[in-house]
Amino acid sequence: MCGIVGYIGNKKAVDIILKGLSYLEYRGYDSAGVALIKKDKVNIFKAPGKLNNLCSIISKENEENVNANAGIGHTRWATHGLPTETNAHPHTCNCKSLTIVHNGIIENYKDLKPNLEAKGCKFQSQTDTEVAAHLIAQEFETHKDLLKAVQSAVKKLKGAYAFCVMHKSMPDRIIAARKNAPLIIGVGDGENFIASDIPAIIEYTKKAIYLSDNQVAEVKTDSIKIYDENDELVANKVENLPFEPIALSKMGYKHFMLKEIHEQPDVVRNVLFGKLHDAEAEVVLDSVRLNKEQLKKINRIQIIACGTSLHAGLVGKYVIEELTKIPVDVEASSEYIYRNTIADENTLVIGISQSGETADTITAIKQVKEKNSHVLIITNRKDSAMARLADSLLPINAGIEVSVAATKSYMAQLLSVYLFAIFLAQNTENADENALQKIKKELLTLPSKLEIILNDTKNIKEIAKKYSSSKNFIFIARGINYPSALEGALKLKEISYINATGYPAGELKHGPIAMLDETMPVLAILNEGIVYDKVLSNCEEAKARQAKLIGVTNFVDEKHKALFDDIAIIPEISDIVSPALNIVILQLLAYHISEYLGKDVDQPRNLAKSVTVE
Ligand code: AGP
Repeated sequence: MCGIVGYIGNKKAVDIILKGLSYLEYRGYDSAGVALIKKDKVNIFKAPGKLNNLCSIISKENEENVNANAGIGHTRWATHGLPTETNAHPHTCNCKSLTIVHNGIIENYKDLKPNLEAKGCKFQSQTDTEVAAHLIAQEFETHKDLLKAVQSAVKKLKGAYAFCVMHKSMPDRIIAARKNAPLIIGVGDGENFIASDIPAIIEYTKKAIYLSDNQVAEVKTDSIKIYDENDELVANKVENLPFEPIALSKMGYKHFMLKEIHEQPDVVRNVLFGKLHDAEAEVVLDSVRLNKEQLKKINRIQIIACGTSLHAGLVGKYVIEELTKIPVDVEASSEYIYRNTIADENTLVIGISQSGETADTITAIKQVKEKNSHVLIITNRKDSAMARLADSLLPINAGIEVSVAATKSYMAQLLSVYLFAIFLAQNTENADENALQKIKKELLTLPSKLEIILNDTKNIKEIAKKYSSSKNFIFIARGINYPSALEGALKLKEISYINATGYPAGELKHGPIAMLDETMPVLAILNEGIVYDKVLSNCEEAKARQAKLIGVTNFVDEKHKALFDDIAIIPEISDIVSPALNIVILQLLAYHISEYLGKDVDQPRNLAKSVTVE
């Protein structure tokens, strides 16, 4: 979603800010802007669309106007008002002395606006943020100090915010504040940085302070002062940032998504490392803070997540129920909240999130924490808000994922869920040792099997080309691969904008079959196992309606070969572990279709990498 970069030091701020914003582009945005402050002058540049538009405006400016050592920048993902130049940040007050960039939503902006208008504030945009600009400017009139103005204003704001504010009469400081939206302060030598996420500043510093909710910071060239909600100064807690700049390179791949798909064998190795040595050994999850007694008391599991993470949770349901016999419910976080969900101290709640910052999941977790349930967070960002809320944390170690469409993080989530299911089963009375050993053995073979798929993608590229002009797509599967069908359809929708839907194969005949004709490709995932014959029958039903059939399978009987128009074969694998291989075929299919269609693979329209609004 929106991105923030602030800089104050002795270098040319605009260069650092624009570069930082470019590293946040992957989060999704639709306009951008920068405010630069120098002595008692503020210059603002804004442009709708991609960052390039802003860069070209700035490049045509007189050097005098852009040569400042302090500034704030923003990429906006529209929530209130169209993605126009006027609605782009930074926003200002009437006299343009104050500038602000903001992530999040000021929920009470409509309540605050009439009072501000009555005081003479003139609004230019349709944004909630402009209310904060005028409100802080009004407070500045009273306090004559930017820190005090912000401290006073935030007490009147409801909702979520991470923002940076500058004032013409105090050009030596940037004030930053946060509540329910991430913001970090990068600590430099004679310079300091502010950013909504690490990639924006990792090139310059590996040291940062994570602002906590309700804190306000005064950032100058050579000092950072943090104040709590009572306006008391608190000690700076400087932490080491977990990424290397190299993680942000495409390493020769055309897109981050393709690079991240190809990283999956190593991602699996990373997830397993230190947790699963061999099939005979127990799974070790040191970070799960539940002892044997507590584990035995768990009688219900709820998994909450969104999007791709939700699909990983759905696979988790099958695996956990199969191995532990504990009932598992999986629900979209946005549905879990705002109703009286049933959970108690014997319920384990698992939150799954790549970013650890998804607003719906954070709200759901906060809600369930009041019910005394133990909350386990499975995330790729152990520095995230969700990680900080966790009773137990299972970091998935996938490395930074830049492409908006999640691929390697899904793989790492799947593996983490398998490991957790085995860990839980080890601690229950009636664990089936043979079944556990079989799964552990197969998990250890995954990296080499993934390499087999990724080393020869010619067939899948051809299939992608053949179907790239389709307007619709149906993905079907049964059992543990039903979530794979959902995830495959989501990937295709996200990056190609083709109308793709995932169905349980058995549901086809209950309605969707009406859509089938020769223009409708049906992709069926069928693994040798309990549902193989059933999916095959559903394929026959589709074929009888002249649908084009693509099979993704580890086995195809000669006598059934003619049924499929195209087949993608995965290496031999048991049904229960097969989602980890099937999904790679579907990721590649979506990637290559998007590529053939010339879409923006890594930054699809309207999407954001981390969805920080509910
Ligand atoms: C995945 O391709 C999506 N971009 C999206 O569905 C994502 O999985 C969802 O927004 C949840 O994000 P999270 O895992 O960071 O919580």
